[in-house]
Amino acid sequence: MPAELIDGRAIAKKIRADVAERAKKLAQGGLRPGLAVVMVGDNPASAVYTAAKSKAAEEAGFYSLNLRLPADTSEADLLSRVDALNSDPKIHGILVQMPLPKQIDPDTVIRRIDPKKDVDGFHPVNVGKMLIGERDGFIPCTPAGIQVLLKESGVKTPGKDCVIIGRSNIVGKPMAALMMQDNENANCTVTVCHRRTVDLKAHTRAADILIVAAGRPRIVTADMVKPGAVVIDVGTNRVNDPSTKSGTRLQGDVDFESVSEIASKITPVPGGVGPMTIAMLMANTVRAAEMTVR
Ligand code: GUN
Repeated sequence: MPAELIDGRAIAKKIRADVAERAKKLAQGGLRPGLAVVMVGDNPASAVYTAAKSKAAEEAGFYSLNLRLPADTSEADLLSRVDALNSDPKIHGILVQMPLPKQIDPDTVIRRIDPKKDVDGFHPVNVGKMLIGERDGFIPCTPAGIQVLLKESGVKTPGKDCVIIGRSNIVGKPMAALMMQDNENANCTVTVCHRRTVDLKAHTRAADILIVAAGRPRIVTADMVKPGAVVIDVGTNRVNDPSTKSGTRLQGDVDFESVSEIASKITPVPGGVGPMTIAMLMANTVRAAEMTVR
């Protein structure tokens, strides 16, 4: 495997240690950062993610509130919970785990969260600030984490062709907005590919940096990658694998085995982007707390 592995676990550990240090400083001044993680229903993947987020908050020394609401919770009920968290001085960050049950409109919920507590960076105010390059908002955790992964593994981004597969509000769109900004960790020429892209391979083969957030197992194969490219795999697809104890395993959007033969650097799944998402959530939360005293 000629490609160098980008170790998300190691980089995330450094970020979380820095966050814990900042939380300690705040606590010495009498302020303990607080994160509320809200989950509605019992989606098994969401249960795993929210438990990991709450645990990371505790490990960082935060006050951690994990709210599990029944699947038939009404939108009005959830909104009143959000209102209560907005006005709770112990809470600096609020995260409502997506997806939500059908009876609840996610956009209405996102808009209800105080932008100053929106540590997911999903509120239109924070999305707008990110797009215009204002730095006092919150950046969505997965794209922010990918940018840190690139920086920490020594990838020089200015002038590079960055191709993103996927245009979700959580990853693809904010990733594109970040990589096109005028700064040393970005300054890329950005292309966003999606379901209606005509010749996907023609685009991906031109990429110096290829970021794959399609949510489809192994859609990127070696023939689609330029030799020496940096490949970031955001995919966390659960696929059947009778050879494992549980009968399933996590599979990225990239065919790691073949692509790692021709890329220069690549993230594994698991252990690449995933740990960074949680680390950046902690970083956003400690910053939300810091901002209340500045
Ligand atoms: N569902 C999948 N990823 C995320 C995330 O980063 N934040 C929230 N709130 N929900 C998600």
